Amino acid sequence: MTYQDHTKALELLSTYPEKDGLDIKSLMDSKAKGGLTYNDFLVLPGKIEFPSSVVSLQSRLTKKITLNTPFVSSPMDTVTEADMAIYMALLGGIGILHHNCTPEEQAAMVKKVKKFENGFINDPITIAPTVTVGDIKEKSKRMGFTSFPVTEDGKLYSKLVGIVTSRDIQFHEDDDSRVSEVMTTDLITANKGVSLTEGNEILRKSKKGKLPIVDKEGNLVSLLSRTDLRKNLDFPLASKLPESKQLLVGAAIGTLDADKIRLAKLAAAGLDVVVIDSSQGNSIFQLNMIKWIKENHPNLQIIAGNVVTREQAASLIAAGADGLRIGMGSGSICITQEVMACGRPQGTAVYAVSEFANKFGVPCIADGGVQNIGHIVKALALGASCVMMGGMLAGTTESPGEYFYRDGKRLKTYRGMGSIDAMEQTATNANASTSRYFSESDKVLVAQGVTGAVVDKGSVTKFIPYLQSGLQHSCQDIGVKSVDELRAAVDAGEVRFELRTPSAQLEGGVNNLHSYEKRLHN
Ligand code: IMP
Repeated sequence: MTYQDHTKALELLSTYPEKDGLDIKSLMDSKAKGGLTYNDFLVLPGKIEFPSSVVSLQSRLTKKITLNTPFVSSPMDTVTEADMAIYMALLGGIGILHHNCTPEEQAAMVKKVKKFENGFINDPITIAPTVTVGDIKEKSKRMGFTSFPVTEDGKLYSKLVGIVTSRDIQFHEDDDSRVSEVMTTDLITANKGVSLTEGNEILRKSKKGKLPIVDKEGNLVSLLSRTDLRKNLDFPLASKLPESKQLLVGAAIGTLDADKIRLAKLAAAGLDVVVIDSSQGNSIFQLNMIKWIKENHPNLQIIAGNVVTREQAASLIAAGADGLRIGMGSGSICITQEVMACGRPQGTAVYAVSEFANKFGVPCIADGGVQNIGHIVKALALGASCVMMGGMLAGTTESPGEYFYRDGKRLKTYRGMGSIDAMEQTATNANASTSRYFSESDKVLVAQGVTGAVVDKGSVTKFIPYLQSGLQHSCQDIGVKSVDELRAAVDAGEVRFELRTPSAQLEGGVNNLHSYEKRLHN
């Protein structure tokens, strides 16, 4: 567009002084209209002057932590364990480990994420020299791989003495022979600290299948595998602290005294962010917990919540929260609004709390009710800095649980942490679910969530880039080059909104087709 064209366009507009659509304040005037959900409104398009690939999705998670993509996985036992947290962080977001498990199990998950090095196998199956060839043949069949490093006592971090591969045992008939008699001892190794590129180069040159990584004393610390060479993707957006190779990780805890002991274990394992997990965050228990954490673990960032009103938010901000989690009753597995009559439509909740918290420099996470990319954009436009997702990430390769088949579909279980299933597991195991709903001493458990199943979504390594790219395209349509710019343009009244009537919502869906297939990405 030439300068003249631009001036002419402005001239045309000046004949009509009122801007199209509504500014955010008019849109969210909830006292007049009632609460809004993400589906109740749309963002009006702006002007496209740049390719979508330049849109920056950087956004703050807490006062001190900024992520390259504003995605957070929910601390639910069918969503986030170590695998999910590793891949969320590699892809620029962060995973919050659930606490429906013992403190030791949760701390082991934190350690696994912190010790993860892209491409390196940090927990290889190792064997002792005394194991028999028959055992190895059986192990290979069961586990689907054929190479095992041999260490003095059969454990990791013990002296590496050899490696046994399929070639060593394939034609060896005596299954009672010891591994020490057949293993390869002429080893090529690399030292701890070697980069992935250097390690891959050594593997390529050596023509070996595996490269054991050892420390100064010759103890095995990890393994690099030739079969993974092609899988070792680059993750340029990975969430790491400056000057550290370690991925960022969060974990949820409750507000009981036992959670202080749990947190000490998590902090010792290297935790970066603690999420105080409660369906109603404005409680004296949570306020005391925030103060205790600030005194005893001053380096931990605290995300407090959940909240849906300014009044709730004010208490938590005053107590020292570094971030807030917004949502009550909007989750896809949630029946809180139905059972407790408490909650708030998520659009209004996100706007009301973020508008308030942002004034005090406290970033907000819109938690629950995100069903598609449009919902993510709307949450960010309403003032959230990040979105937390449960159902969207359940059913992926990286979510906990096994796939099963029903009605010809490949499924995984997805359940609310306030479902009877999750709370009953809690009763025998830990304190996560019941304490989230203040039910740890109840004789009758009152469910606030359901147990269901979701369809296989494939790996988050494909799904998160799809969300990223969709979000960039949406920002391009709106005419903003970053998440920060989106929020600033909304505040300035430049990004405009429109309410959506029920028939407008119908119009926005697919219409009048005999049948169709909804494929979201390739
Ligand atoms: P989703 O992304 O819409 O599936 O919602 C996930 C969010 O729902 C979580 O991050 C929690 O805030 C919330 N949530 C988890 N379990 C329950 C439950 O049992 N009842 C109500 N809300 C839940």
